[in-house]
Amino acid sequence: MAKVKRAFFCSECGYETPKWLGKCPACGEWNTIAEHVVARESSSVAAQVASVPRAVARKVQDISEQQNRRIDLGNNEINRVLGGGLVPGSLILVGGEPGIGKSTLSLQLALTNNDLATLYVSGEESAEQIKMRATRIGINNEECTVFTETLLENIVKQIEETQPDMVIIDSIQTMYTDLVESSAGSVTQIRECAATLLKIAKSTGIAIFIIGHITKDGNIAGPKILEHIVDVVLQFEGDHNNSYRILRGIKNRFGATYEIGVFEMRDNGLKEVDNPSEILLSHYDEPLAGISVGSTIDGIRPYLIEVQALVSNAAYGTPQRSTTGFDQRRLNMLLAVLEKRVGMKMFQKDVFLNFAGGFKIADPGMDLAVVAAIISSYYDRPLMEGACCAGEIGLSGEVRPAPRSEQRIAEAARLGFKRIVVSSFVQKSIKRPKGIEVVFISSIEQLPRALFATRSDMDE
Ligand code: TYD
Ligand code: MG
Repeated sequence: MAKVKRAFFCSECGYETPKWLGKCPACGEWNTIAEHVVARESSSVAAQVASVPRAVARKVQDISEQQNRRIDLGNNEINRVLGGGLVPGSLILVGGEPGIGKSTLSLQLALTNNDLATLYVSGEESAEQIKMRATRIGINNEECTVFTETLLENIVKQIEETQPDMVIIDSIQTMYTDLVESSAGSVTQIRECAATLLKIAKSTGIAIFIIGHITKDGNIAGPKILEHIVDVVLQFEGDHNNSYRILRGIKNRFGATYEIGVFEMRDNGLKEVDNPSEILLSHYDEPLAGISVGSTIDGIRPYLIEVQALVSNAAYGTPQRSTTGFDQRRLNMLLAVLEKRVGMKMFQKDVFLNFAGGFKIADPGMDLAVVAAIISSYYDRPLMEGACCAGEIGLSGEVRPAPRSEQRIAEAARLGFKRIVVSSFVQKSIKRPKGIEVVFISSIEQLPRALFATRSDMDE
């Protein structure tokens, strides 16, 4: 009988241990360690696909630049996130919550470029369902093949027979190999499947996208190990109630990480958003209180986004603080600074904070904009028209420079803003573009004067 190798794995993080444990030493979760058959003797999937041609070792100087060629996927946002196009032979993981649009995005990719032979493997939907989606997206690529299969061995055969340029596996959690006993979606299955796909990608030069679901806490379901295996990790995120989606580079062996691509989910698929600022700024006839605009940077891309704050009298003893898309502890800190430095009585106020488009902002350079919206709502006075800000606020109320202030100022000027408030730390070092007044402040006390039409606005 074939020898069977067994091991214990954590179902949360993929940690491997020779014996059972109650608590995973790697991620600290309880009751997540389970026993799995790793492989029967000499039967790893990698061994089974030995028919895949072997790569050749070469000297660096002998490798021609052309082999570093990038494939234009016909989609600017994705090209950018990938670092300037798709690298042949790369293994790319696309993670995201269920229903966010991973299948739509990947099918669109398979259909967009007419010069690419693509294979879309789905373990989740029937061929008819995929056809319906393709009709809805409304683009056609005669070289796109759809394959509804979950057994990896069959997929490998199909890839070998048809030799496509690009393969999409939707999703890795539904795929399984016969050589591992556990059910599809388990850590061992995902690991073996991914290892096989990696081997195929590297030896044939076929680019492979792997779709992976994400758990509630934001991890790619089950195996963190997947992130180590693949070349590129992209995360597809967004708010279900909103139509904007962000594709974020988390790891990229071929380009800069922290690049983002912005999309809008429409009736006919995902549309690229070239200029996020335009959708994130509302155009009111009259200025409203409680609204400010911040110049932020996500990755290396600056854009302007609207912040809305509502400050109202607290009805109960403990005031409420509620935020969407912003760290609540950071908000509490900013409120404490306002109380101490500007003398606003925040302890009597409920504070609600929102960002346009359901965006999540982790940029400390948005502090000034957040505080400006709060001050505006507190005094019920709209801010000066055409003004925005970019700066970080410290515990003693000092205004620190936001990273890449110059880029933020340039973006505000490009979008027709008349005035931007930034930290005085950068006064000497930055270029001031034409058409925008740059106001430098060093502490939060100076913010109201810089953003409200007149000082008398502030007298209650
Ligand atoms: P889907 O790609 O199936 O998500 P995932 O694969 O990440 O689970 O997308 C699901 C949602 O997108 C679904 O609720 C319907 C919506 N959708 C549109 O709004 N417009 C479209 O053109 C398509 C294809 C889907
Ligand atoms: Mg799907």
